[in-house]
Amino acid sequence: MTVEPGWVPPGGDTSKANIARVYDYWLGGSHNFQADQDAARTLIAMEPNVREIVRANRAFLGRAVRFLAREAGIRQFLDIGSGIPASQPVHETAQQAGPGSRVVYVDNDEIAVAHSRLILDDNPDATIIQADLREPAKILADPETQLLIDFTQPVGLLLMAVLHFIPGEDAVAEVMTTLRDALVPGSYLVICHTCRDAKPEMADSAASVYNSRIAAQVVMRTRDEIGNLFEGFTLVDPGLVWIPEWRPDSPGDVPEDPQQYWGLVGVGRRT
Ligand SMILES: C[S@@+](CC[C@H](N)C(=O)[O-])C[C@H]1O[C@@H](n2cnc3c(N)ncnc32)[C@H](O)[C@@H]1O
Repeated sequence: MTVEPGWVPPGGDTSKANIARVYDYWLGGSHNFQADQDAARTLIAMEPNVREIVRANRAFLGRAVRFLAREAGIRQFLDIGSGIPASQPVHETAQQAGPGSRVVYVDNDEIAVAHSRLILDDNPDATIIQADLREPAKILADPETQLLIDFTQPVGLLLMAVLHFIPGEDAVAEVMTTLRDALVPGSYLVICHTCRDAKPEMADSAASVYNSRIAAQVVMRTRDEIGNLFEGFTLVDPGLVWIPEWRPDSPGDVPEDPQQYWGLVGVGRRT
C-alpha cells in the first residue's frame, strides 16, 4: 500500500498526471508523483526549454506583482489558477512590496489547495479557496473572497498560465466579462497565456499530450485572441509581449529570440 504524504488530501488521486503537479515538477518542486513526472518529461522531450520557460513565467509574475504593489498602489490580489505554492509566492512578494496586501488564491485542484492551506495557516491576510475559473461568479461571491477583497477598491487580478485551460472563445469571453465587471477602474489584469503563433505545429502536438496524458483541455491561442482577453483594460507599456520582454530587471535578461518562451504576457489597467 502506498502511503501518501500528509499534504495529499484523503482520496486524492496521485496515479494520474495533474497539471498543478506537472508544473511543480518543472519548477523543481517536490509535490509530484510518478505519473506527473512521466508526463512532464514527455513534454520536456518535445520542448527542452520547458523548465526555463516556467521559471521565466514565475519571474514575470514577481515583476508584475511588484509593479502593481509599488507603482500602481494595489493592495488586494485575486490569483486564479494559483497552483502549488512555489518559491516567492504572490502573497510574500505583494506583502513585501506593499505591506498590508491581501491575497486570495484560487485553484480547482485539491492538492494545490491543501498544500496552500498549510503554508497560509498563519497568514491572516492570505487565503486559498477551491473553485473553478469556469464559474467566476462563485469565486467572486465566496465568503473568503468577500472577507479579504473589497470590490469597491482596485484589485489586481492574476490569470497566470491558466486561461489556456478554458477552451472556446465564447466561453473564455464570458469568464472575462464576469471578472471584469467586478473590477472598479484602476484595477489591473495580469495574464500569461501560451501562444501558438511561434510554433503552431509543436503547439498542436503539445496540446494533444496535455489532452491525453494530463487530462487537461489545452488551447494555445493566437496573439489576437490573447489580446482580446484584455477588452475593457488598457495595456501598460510594453504591451503584449513575450515573457522575458515585460519590464526586464536588466536588458541582458531578454534573449535574442524571446518567442522561444511560448507565453505572451501583459498587464492591463481597467478603464
Ligand atoms: C500551469 S499552473 C500555473 C500556476 C501559477 N498560476 C503560475 O503561473 O505559476 C495552472 C494552475 O491552474 C489550475 N487550473 C487549471 N484549470 C483551472 C480551472 N478551471 N479553475 C481553477 N484553476 C485551474 C491548475 O490546477 C494549476 O494549478
